[in-house]
Amino acid sequence: MRFSVGAAPPGCGGLSVQKWKSIDSMQRSIQALDSSPYSDSSVDLESLPGKLGNLSSHSPGRRPSTRDSPVTTDARYVFDDVELRASERRLLIGGQVANIGSRAFNLLLMLVTHRDRLVTKDELIEAVWPNVVVDQNNLVVQIASLRKLLGNQAIVTIPGRGYKFSVPGVQVLRAHELPRRDQPLAAPLRHAPLLGRREEVRRVGELLRMHRVVTLTGASGIGKTRLAQHLCEELSPAFRDGSAWVELASASDGRLVIDALARALNLDLRAADPLPGLMHAMQNRRMLMVIDNVEAVADDVARVVHALCESAPGVRFLLTSQVPLRITQEKELRLGPLSVPTHVLPVAEALQHGAVALFADRAQAMDHRFALDDANVGTVIGICRRLDGIALAIEMAASRVSLLGVDELAQALEQRLDLLLSTRKDVPERHQTLRRALDWSHGLLAETERLALRRLSVFTGSFSLDAALDVLTGDESATPESARWDGLDALTELVDRSLVIVEPGEPPRYRLYESTRQFAAEQLAASGEEESCRRRHALAMRRIVLALFDQRLRDWDHAHAGVALELDNAREALSWALRADPLTAVMLAPPISWGLVTSSTAALDIWRATEALLSDDMPLHVRAQWAGSASIFRLPCWLPRRVEWARTAIDLWRGTGESQGLQLALLNASRLLAQDDPAQCRDWLAEADALNAPGMAPGLRAMRADVEAQAALDAGDTGAAIAAFEQALRAAAASHNSFIMQLLSRELARARMVQATSQPDHREAA
Ligand SMILES: Nc1ncnc2c1ncn2[C@@H]1O[C@H](COP(=O)(O)OP(=O)(O)O)[C@@H](O)[C@H]1O
Ligand SMILES: [Mg+2]
Repeated sequence: MRFSVGAAPPGCGGLSVQKWKSIDSMQRSIQALDSSPYSDSSVDLESLPGKLGNLSSHSPGRRPSTRDSPVTTDARYVFDDVELRASERRLLIGGQVANIGSRAFNLLLMLVTHRDRLVTKDELIEAVWPNVVVDQNNLVVQIASLRKLLGNQAIVTIPGRGYKFSVPGVQVLRAHELPRRDQPLAAPLRHAPLLGRREEVRRVGELLRMHRVVTLTGASGIGKTRLAQHLCEELSPAFRDGSAWVELASASDGRLVIDALARALNLDLRAADPLPGLMHAMQNRRMLMVIDNVEAVADDVARVVHALCESAPGVRFLLTSQVPLRITQEKELRLGPLSVPTHVLPVAEALQHGAVALFADRAQAMDHRFALDDANVGTVIGICRRLDGIALAIEMAASRVSLLGVDELAQALEQRLDLLLSTRKDVPERHQTLRRALDWSHGLLAETERLALRRLSVFTGSFSLDAALDVLTGDESATPESARWDGLDALTELVDRSLVIVEPGEPPRYRLYESTRQFAAEQLAASGEEESCRRRHALAMRRIVLALFDQRLRDWDHAHAGVALELDNAREALSWALRADPLTAVMLAPPISWGLVTSSTAALDIWRATEALLSDDMPLHVRAQWAGSASIFRLPCWLPRRVEWARTAIDLWRGTGESQGLQLALLNASRLLAQDDPAQCRDWLAEADALNAPGMAPGLRAMRADVEAQAALDAGDTGAAIAAFEQALRAAAASHNSFIMQLLSRELARARMVQATSQPDHREAA
């Protein structure tokens, strides 16, 4: 469904274009309100996310008000890098106190506190120069001075009427609250301390002071990510805007790099080329951006980071990668293994070495009776040396201590050493050492754990328990019930051994360290069961994201956040399904396209690829869902297709007899063809209304009321439009759709503005 928030191209059913045209000068101002580089003139309800912060000034049905008197409020208003502190009477720009006179300050405060509407010249003069007769030129001068500080776009002139503050996303905070700064994702929590690496921490801190980009390179499992996490936490307070953590799964596709960055910064970039949008959004930030696991898409990261270095001077980058980016701004720090003593040392001294400390820490976590002492320190040092100080290998080995004891563990390693040395003559020595270390440690795990670990390697990023159990239970001989219990046991075991990480949150999610995942993925490929695992993974993701997608008309924000969490895995599932399972691919297209925040082009690729797979053997409701969602997808090049798909969706849904799908399709189609075929639309709307039932989803009611409002605007009946928008807002609130609530609030405000300008006593206001 589409809600328009400005003038839309003729023929695609936007807000009544003629209406605006009749107030020509005002239209220009209103377009200026929407002239942010990423705001489109019309927005699809279904293809956009619901993520909004502060809706307090837009709650449904609330009239524009003068509730916040500029004089009495103690609030702080935060937008872009600007903070307006009412009680302190200060304006901070980029953290610096701006030089602003008291009249200009009052003026700005008045505009910001009434940002939900236009403020007339009389109101402004009355607020800023109370009880004084002043020339209007004074106002013009003060407005010009504010524009100098905040940019020309910040305050829009509505000729003959007054001014409107037009920076979106103002946060209102009380004196003690911290601004939300777009909520960058924090580094994944890791409770275990960083061991050793004191010198590296110091060195990276120093490098980051001098260089824009620092890349930690080194073999998989050596400890790059762990070090980057520590640095991220440690250095974050030194940056005004803190830090953001961006995780690129190794399976990443280069086009997703910007997507991942935007997600970490909670930005919504919708454009065919989102890079300029990202550059713009970051230009005034002062932050540390950590990007983990760069190697698989190093060239794409290089391009983006290079561009951001040019445009965002306050951002520093810390990357982890097996290979450097090789861009001019980059400084590479090659990470060696954790330090291992060269000979036997007393316990206290041995623990100064990272490798020994890590072994002791993990062994103790497994078995609280374990302690490093004079009797075992020599053997532990020997094990660490055998494992070349490679963190991941040490962790895996240490997790077996409780079962084998230190001595037996050392012996088991020796035996495997002989075995592996004889078989791996072809591999270069450096790699061989690493592989050997990992193979050894892995060989020490129980068979059930090895099986579980390699199966879980099909996940990218984090995954739910539900999905994990589907993937783990591949043994057809067991009953489904007992297989799930076995899966649960295996997962518990892996979590206990720290091979699978539990992420905080409710319900918890799980993930493998990328180093572990890569290693386990190789095991999976060698095991011959990769294809069946991928199939189970894809089917699990299909089930999960479709269930969320179905909730969107009742609980939009929740459903959308849920799909966002599953997006990496859903896309992974899609890429498998595109070559192996057309039905699953077609089923995955709507929820994934809906969940994609930034990349319209990525979504377009998905629509195109799955369109080619459609076939008449597929179930009706699958094709109907696909067509209905495709008709909503809004990239201009897809436009001619939309009408075709909207009609197809109606036919297909009619065939299924499912009323909600049909209602949705009818409402969509009548939005799309409102201008071109009004008679047909009337029939569709009548058909949709006939399907109304008591438990109808509030999201559908919101759509219906919006259609009503647009029609009223087209007919020039602003009063009826306002009433319908208010109704749509209430329904949108009931469907927990904060995104659409914001759009509707804006439309409502505009309709009210139209109403106000058309009242004769206001025309001559200035
Ligand atoms: N200095 C360290 N202190 C504690 N644990 C570490 C340290 N370095 C690595 N580890 C652990 O070893 C494992 C592999 O490290 P990781 O950072 O994922 O390697 P990489 O990113 O280089 O592939 C992880 O479980 C990590 O927590
Ligand atoms: Mg890593």
